[in-house]
Amino acid sequence: MRRRQLLLAAAVGGAGMLWGLRAKNSDNGGVHSAYFQTLSTALDNAGLARPTLIIDKQKLLANANILHQHLAGRYDYRVVAKSLPSLPLLETVMSHTDTQRLMVFHQPFLNLITNELPNTDVLLGKPMPVAAAARFYQQHKTTQFDARHQLQWLVDAPARLIQYADLARQRRELMLINLELDVGLHRGGIKDEEQLAVALDIIEREPFLQFSGFMGYDPHVSKNPRLLGGPEAAFSSVQKVYQNFVTTAERQLQRSLSGLTLNAAGSPTYQRYTGAQVATELSAGSALVKPTDFDLDTLADHEPATFIATPVLKSLPVAEVPGIEKLASLQSWFNPNSRQAFFIYGGYWKAKPESPPGLSLHPLYGRSANQEMLNGSSSVKLQPDDWVFMRPTQSEGVFLQFGDIAVYEDGAIVDSWPVFAQS
Ligand SMILES: Cc1ncc(COP(=O)(O)O)c(C=O)c1O
Repeated sequence: MRRRQLLLAAAVGGAGMLWGLRAKNSDNGGVHSAYFQTLSTALDNAGLARPTLIIDKQKLLANANILHQHLAGRYDYRVVAKSLPSLPLLETVMSHTDTQRLMVFHQPFLNLITNELPNTDVLLGKPMPVAAAARFYQQHKTTQFDARHQLQWLVDAPARLIQYADLARQRRELMLINLELDVGLHRGGIKDEEQLAVALDIIEREPFLQFSGFMGYDPHVSKNPRLLGGPEAAFSSVQKVYQNFVTTAERQLQRSLSGLTLNAAGSPTYQRYTGAQVATELSAGSALVKPTDFDLDTLADHEPATFIATPVLKSLPVAEVPGIEKLASLQSWFNPNSRQAFFIYGGYWKAKPESPPGLSLHPLYGRSANQEMLNGSSSVKLQPDDWVFMRPTQSEGVFLQFGDIAVYEDGAIVDSWPVFAQS
């Protein structure tokens, strides 16, 4: 008797669980909103029919305005070039935010930028091997960009400083040196007062090197767990560490650092800077296009301004996995969102499906950069040649995978912006 009762309870529990799972997987599908419908028409009218990276110019400029308002003249703004890797895109952002400052992370892009945008003020965002720095100078033909005054090399450690001092001496040309600080990210950089003292000493003793400031990047702040005081505690610690480096440097050099470049922040933290901090300028790039990794409380007033659009190649009424075709109807009973299969042009990008709603990747089918399968419920009405839209998870790297950026404005594709070339 007890056994039968137990079996009954197990059966009822199991059935309940199955229904629960089904209820959890309710139909999330739908059709494009008016915005994505208009975007689809704009792409068709432009004759596009391949994976395309789109920037919505109005949303980009709205984000740039928000950033400009937050900085409120209290900090200079430095545009992070790797997150917006296209000359016309950078020029648009620079003119809209009234800045000439760029942060650059790659030697070929450094040569490109200094040739094409010779009025910029450039700070490296990571320390380059000295051979890459030497290569920059070999390839640097233009005379309009004066590297002696417009380019700050980022240096993380005394050993690299010695290499840079040798290069500067060989070339008999001044190199500006900005020191990378470890303000809590622990990605290298000057870690303590002793290292700072050694680094400053090397710079001061070398006539061809000149100290130009500090860079302290702080993306770890947003991730600090509540248990450890949350982002607020991490941000306040970053400020203490940064201020201490500045005070120590001023004491050692016997002069004020005012007028030097005290760079800080990044998209996740720039809105935490209120004017009370020691930094003189803030860097950000991603916030202006807002990929999904930047869906953060501190960027709630920024809008997604970039999408990947790609045509549907095939629309199949049933999503079948080779070898387990028979499970297709069971699977779509459990999860109505896995009923249909849409094969898209390309795929496997660092991106998440955005429109129409309810599209997802199949957990078993496998990824493809050629024709990726997306699944959706019967409420998704996609046909071959319709567009699917995704949001990149990050802009860096992803932006370089599609050729020219399609610029969308007021219902039409109005421009085509080339992205950075690697050589
Ligand atoms: C040194 C430095 N500063 C700032 C940033 C911020 O860039 P973004 O605003 O695009 O996140 C980065 C990003 O990697 C960085 O490495």
